[in-house]
Parts: sequence; structure tokens; C-alpha cells
Amino acid sequence: MTIGFFDSGIGGLSVLAESLRRLPDQDYLYMADTLHVPYGSKTKDEVRGYIFEAVDRMMQQGIDALVVACNTATSIAVEELRSVYDLPIVGMEPAVKPAVEMNRATGKRVLVLATQLTLQLPRYYALVSRVDEGGIVDSLPLPELVRYCESLQFDPQVMEAYFRSKFEPYNLDDYGIIVLGCTHYPFYRNILRRMLPSHIEIVDGNAGTVRRLSALLNRFGIVGHGSGQVRFMCTGNEPAYIDKMQTALSYYETNVAQREESI
Ligand code: SIN
Repeated sequence: MTIGFFDSGIGGLSVLAESLRRLPDQDYLYMADTLHVPYGSKTKDEVRGYIFEAVDRMMQQGIDALVVACNTATSIAVEELRSVYDLPIVGMEPAVKPAVEMNRATGKRVLVLATQLTLQLPRYYALVSRVDEGGIVDSLPLPELVRYCESLQFDPQVMEAYFRSKFEPYNLDDYGIIVLGCTHYPFYRNILRRMLPSHIEIVDGNAGTVRRLSALLNRFGIVGHGSGQVRFMCTGNEPAYIDKMQTALSYYETNVAQREESI
């Protein structure tokens, strides 16, 4: 069986890494929309069209389930994708609900980092309204971070300076949890861990997404007989980008994956 993973670029590899670890008997097709990355700074209507073009191409390759491994794309199109394509589809959700629950006892605030577009869309507003009774959730867009990630900019000095400038208006002592609400952002988990005060937990939704994927595969009887092989594709058909995806996945698996904080 082949599980399709879709993202604007390399961010969804952070979810794929989790899936390779938990579901090693499946095989994978990973599609990056290199013609249109980044999504987070575009309009909803533009991005909607790009998502359907890319997913059509994945369907032509033959996939048995789809993970929309991109928060922005999920917010825009996951329901519509489910109504159009006849296969199990899992999307991303910023881990705001578990973060609010985990944080209840501490009395501290929660800071959600995501793309501008994710934070503007009704899906995010509905999520926060549903789970944030105490008004403890703040949201911070990081418009430059996807581009840093896409250029494999993982230099700790450069990135620490960037994050410090973004966190400057916040008193970090007030916060107990930072939620990574874009699948590119977990690539910076190790850098954030080193620079943030130790009382702040860093969470993402990757493990939760893979748990939902696993439950859906069981429900639909999609049993894996594979070996965790990954086939990489991108909408621009650039061989250099395929190499970049392999490099980024290895970087993530080697330097970043810290499963205990992925919820
Ligand atoms: C992007 O392309 O801007 C990243 C989308 C996301 O993972 O939210």
C-alpha cells in the first residue's frame, strides 16, 4: 500500500519521519508543490487551486490514503478534498487543544507559531474559540520561516537571532508551551529548545496526525506489506529538489526528532 504525503515543500517531511517510525510497513509517495511554495503568504483561493492540481497528480500515481502534511493546506481544503476523493484523508491541526489542557495547571500562556494564512483562516479561529475558554492562547505568525527552511538554513546563530527578534515583544516567562503550527517549524525544534527557557515545552501535532492515520488505515483495512520506501515527487520536476528532500529528511531524522514532545 502507498500512503501519499503532500506539502508545499519539505515541511511535511517532519510528519513523514514520524510515520516512517510508527508505520514502517507502508510505502510512501511524498509530493512537494515546489512550483508554489510557500503557501502561507498567498491567498486562500490561489492555494486551493494549487492543492487540487498536486493531489490530482498524486492520485494518478495511485495512493491508498493521503496525509495533507501542511497546516495551511489543511485549513483551506481538507474537507473539500474528502468530498472529492474517495480515500482516507488525514490533515494537520495545530496542537492547541492538548497544549491548553497540558497548560491548565501551570497558569501560564500558550504561544502558537504558524503561517500568516493559517492564523487568518476561519478553521484556526474556530479551533481557538472552541478550546481556549480562559483566553490564554496567543498567536505569532513567522512569515520568513518557511523560506529559511526551504533553503536549508539551519545555522544555529542565524536562526537564534531570527527567533530572538520575533520573541522580543513577548515576556517568555509568561508562557508554558509553544505550539509549532506549521510542519516546516519542527525542523527548528532543536534550535528553539536550546534558546528557550527550560520551563517552556515545545509541541507539534505530528505524532497525533500519525496516530489518526494509523487508526484510519486500520478502519479501512489498509494493511502495509511494504518496507518504508519513499518515492519523492515535486510539481516542478526538479531533480535537485528531490536530492534536497532526501537531505532534509536525513537532517530531520538525525538532528531533530525528539518524539516525546510531539503530541
Ligand atoms: C507554507 O508553504 O507556507 C507552509 C505551509 C504550512 O505548513 O502551514
